[in-house]
Order: sequence, then C-alpha cells, then structure tokens
Amino acid sequence: MRIGHVNLAQPLILAPMAGITDQYFRLILKRIGGVGLVSMEFISSEALTRGSHRTRHMMQFSEEERPLAIQIYGSDPERMADAAGFVQALGADIVDINMGCPANKVLKGCAGAALMGDPDLARAIVRRVRQSVRIPLTVKFRVGLDDRRANFLELGRICQEEGADAVALHARTARQMFSGRADWERIRLLKETLAIPVSGNGDVETPADAAALFQATGCDAVMIGRAAIKNPWIFRQIAALRAGQQPLEPGLEERRVLILQHFALLREREDERSALHKIRTFTGWYTHGLPNGRTLRQRINGLVSVAEFIDAIEDFFRMVQAA
Ligand SMILES: Cc1cc2nc3c(=O)[nH]c(=O)nc-3n(C[C@H](O)[C@H](O)[C@H](O)COP(=O)(O)O)c2cc1C
Repeated sequence: MRIGHVNLAQPLILAPMAGITDQYFRLILKRIGGVGLVSMEFISSEALTRGSHRTRHMMQFSEEERPLAIQIYGSDPERMADAAGFVQALGADIVDINMGCPANKVLKGCAGAALMGDPDLARAIVRRVRQSVRIPLTVKFRVGLDDRRANFLELGRICQEEGADAVALHARTARQMFSGRADWERIRLLKETLAIPVSGNGDVETPADAAALFQATGCDAVMIGRAAIKNPWIFRQIAALRAGQQPLEPGLEERRVLILQHFALLREREDERSALHKIRTFTGWYTHGLPNGRTLRQRINGLVSVAEFIDAIEDFFRMVQAA
C-alpha cells in the first residue's frame, strides 16, 4: 500500500490518539512490528505556528518510527498551510489534516469535525495545505456532524479534488462521539466513490475484525486506535493472519517485558514523576483482563519511585504465573 510516494510495508495504521500515541508508544508498537504507519497525536496549528515550546517538544520523533504521519488541526487555511510546512521541514513522511475531532474545545475553534459542517472552508484548507507541502497529504474525517448531515462522500471528493493522497474515515458521526457502532458500510461507499486510497477506521478490536473490515469494504488500509492500547500486538497479529499464519497471543512474559520496556523508554526522557504517571495508565491497559489486575493498579497508584514500580510489576507477574 502506498500513500503518495510513501510505501507502507503493511496496510495497517496506528490511529492518532491524543495523550496516547506519543513517541514512547509509537516506538513500542514499531518494535513489536506489523504496523505500517504510525500517527502522532494531533497538533494545534495555532500552537505550532505561535512557536509553542511544549508543542514542538511533543513533535519529537526518531528514524525508527518511520514512516510517520503528523496530524494537524485548525480552522485557518493560512495557519494550517504554515503548520504543514513546519511538519514537512521537521521531516515527517506524511502530513494529515484532522477533520474528525468532536471535542468541544476543538469544535469551538471551528476545527476538527466542525470543518465537515463547512465544506468550503474544508476545501480551502486542503487546497492551501496541498500548495504548501510536497510530502503526501492525508485527511481524516468522520461520517458527518450527525446522521442528517452525513456528507462524508462530499468531503472525500473535496479531498481528492484538492490533491489529498489518501483519506481515513472513522465511520461514526461527530455527534456519536464514541457511542454506537462504526458503520462500515459507509467505508465501503467511500472506497467505491474515490480513486485515492481509503483507510477504514472504527471498532476493530481483534485481528478477525480487521480481516472482516478489509473484506466488507475493500478499503486499502485498516486504521486502529483503542484496540492497540490494550493489545499493542494487534498489528503483528493481523499481519500474521494476512500471511496465512495463526496470530500468536502474547504470553505473560511478553506482557511483563512490554511494561518494563515502555517504562524504560519513558525514563530515558521523562523525570521520575512524569514517567510514573504515564506508565500507570498504560499498565492498566496492558494488564487488562489478567487476574488481580485491579490490585496491581491500586498498588501502583500510590508509588513514587522507579524501584517501587519495578518491584510491583515483578511481584504481580510472579503471582499471576504461580496462580
Ligand atoms: C484517547 C483518544 C484520543 C484520540 N485522539 C485523536 C486525535 O488526536 N486525532 C484524531 O484524528 N483522532 C483521535 N482519536 C480518534 C481515533 O483516531 C479513532 O478514529 C477512533 O478511536 C476510532 O478508532 P478505534 O475504534 O480503532 O479506536 C482519538 C481517540 C481516542 C480514544
């Protein structure tokens, strides 16, 4: 699968997730393997072009993560074009425009999903961004603001006409936020309508779901968000399934190593407090469904040192293994 000149070894994409798809998580996924493209969490074009130090810090990435897409959001075509230029200068492989975020904070600035309610502005943004960068350009959107205004086909055509190299559809409306089910039929319709590659997104929870999404819609790539947090092996499992092999379930040892590796990555760059804060959340997901996971989560909540955290993890896995 190709997006512009960028070749994806697998048609499998890590969805952008604010607060989740930071450099550490992207590296974890790349090292596990199977993922064809990783996405950074979305970046405000306002903050980026104002020179926000925090924003620029968030945008660090390494060669190991390639190919990497950086997603920007905003409502001003000129600022979006400048932000895209910055993304290109930084060396990202792909710049992605967010037209799907339903969060109020973003909608109030008329960005994210609000752009689906203003196709002329959406067009102006894609056009200006296209003019400002040579790297492949993608757009991620939803079905529409709500079911009455399901204009994803119009939006897809706009993106294509204005030179986007691919689009991704999260098959829910903005009003749905994350409720209900993603309507994959809409992904099929978009794929049927457009000539550029279409990534299908929404509610892929297992490798079998990914196979079903490819099958039902003919989409060019499958994009996965939430399931990858609980199961970062999912891309490797889907790649195995696509190669006709049985997907391997991660064992306890792999989970233990995963948590310690993620923590080690955090500690390389973050101070102790911040590393502990971040790893707590991920440990909750990585131990999801294991016996006594809740006891572990309670224990690590109060911990303030690296050594205590590592002890807690080692104790937990010893206990689960012995059970
Ligand atoms: C915590 C969280 C943060 C998200 N942040 C973004 C974001 O920054 N940009 C974006 O386009 N979508 C964002 N999304 C939406 C996901 O990219 C994806 O479209 C959605 O979760 C549906 O896919 P899934 O069912 O595989 O999770 C976010 C989703 C979650 C759960």
